[in-house]
Amino acid sequence: MRVIRGRVFFRGRLDALSLGIGENGKIVAVKKSLRGDEEVDHGDSLILPGCVDLHVHMRDPGLTDKEDFPSGTRSAAMGGVTTIAEMPNTAPPVTSRLAYEEKVAALRGRGAVDYVLYAAPRSEEAVTRLGEAAAFKAYMAESTGALQVGPGELEGILRGAQTSRKLVVVHAEDPRQFMRGKVRGLEDYSAARPKAAESSALHWLASSRGEARIHIAHVTCVEALDAVPSGATCEVTPHHLFLDTSRPIGARGKVNPPLRLPVDREALWDAFRAGRIDAIASDHAPHTLDEKGVPFDEAPAGLPGVATSFPLLMRRTRAGEIDLARLVSATASRPAEILGIAKGIIEVGRDADLLVVDPRTAERIRAKRLRYKCGWTPFEEMEACFPHTVYLRGESVVEDGEPAAEGQGRLVSTE
Ligand code: DOR
Ligand code: ZN
Repeated sequence: MRVIRGRVFFRGRLDALSLGIGENGKIVAVKKSLRGDEEVDHGDSLILPGCVDLHVHMRDPGLTDKEDFPSGTRSAAMGGVTTIAEMPNTAPPVTSRLAYEEKVAALRGRGAVDYVLYAAPRSEEAVTRLGEAAAFKAYMAESTGALQVGPGELEGILRGAQTSRKLVVVHAEDPRQFMRGKVRGLEDYSAARPKAAESSALHWLASSRGEARIHIAHVTCVEALDAVPSGATCEVTPHHLFLDTSRPIGARGKVNPPLRLPVDREALWDAFRAGRIDAIASDHAPHTLDEKGVPFDEAPAGLPGVATSFPLLMRRTRAGEIDLARLVSATASRPAEILGIAKGIIEVGRDADLLVVDPRTAERIRAKRLRYKCGWTPFEEMEACFPHTVYLRGESVVEDGEPAAEGQGRLVSTE
């Protein structure tokens, strides 16, 4: 048995503990002290469950000039993420069983972390054919990948998902609320795809979803949080918590739904700290700098973030702005529950997916260190606290803050 020691987040609190790891990469014992054939002592560092990121676009297959599965999952691991849920707007889009199977085959053996795949059915019948996917994604408005569905199609998808008890993750913006006109920058963009478009889409969902299990992607403001249908879960991105329309980043900050005003961002922070947000998800959506370097109107929406999500939040936790339990819940245990996967918690019988972090180490974010294929980050220069070691099923995938292994990520099944 291998033993990993440190200050472990176990059953809701930190304790100096030893974790025994079995041959199969599972936690087999949690004790004050344990002896093993191989022992690693992380001293005062915190050992937390590896993060589960519910929302990433790794662009593989088909869009690999922006990112690919090895590069994107390597960056994920560096940010403490050990399981990702990969979105279906790759090329070809995952709208058919064949495309799903091809994507599974294309990604096999190439990821540094574990993963599940979303599909995007476009009708009630397609829901049945895509039953192998972990969950479904439905776009109510246009965004990268042109997978938008109309209300009639979405009703069919929700009916199908209700029958099969599958989770539907909804990009909830109502395009009828979008304004036309010249968009020159972030403030114009927020006005063009306003907060009201989110609330309107959520009101529609509240009355149309029947008994389907739904999760609301990237909620940007408190008005939208207030409109999340009861019983539904929701996520917020780090860019809506850490960036707003006052940042001088132009089209690099263009994303759907848009960055909001500073006052909206502050209110969203308060809501997060108050426990009103189930999960933090990066919506890692890289585009190249060439693609972003055109007039704002023409630039693609989306920005990278999988490697900086946990480190930005850990820094704020260290500063006393967030409870550690809140952080662990939003980045690991709750997203795993939402997906229905046996991840996101340190417990006997679970996979030893762990991140080890020394909260006293703060560093400024530099794009180069993150190793995104797109080569940039909108969080440049912000203070963050990166894990120094990350374990995937007991094997280190990050050591001394650097990628240490790749290719052992597996497709995870849902319960
Ligand atoms: O800004 C966005 N970019 N929003 C989405 O919904 C899709 C994403 C992408 O894939 O680029
Ligand atoms: Zn997305």
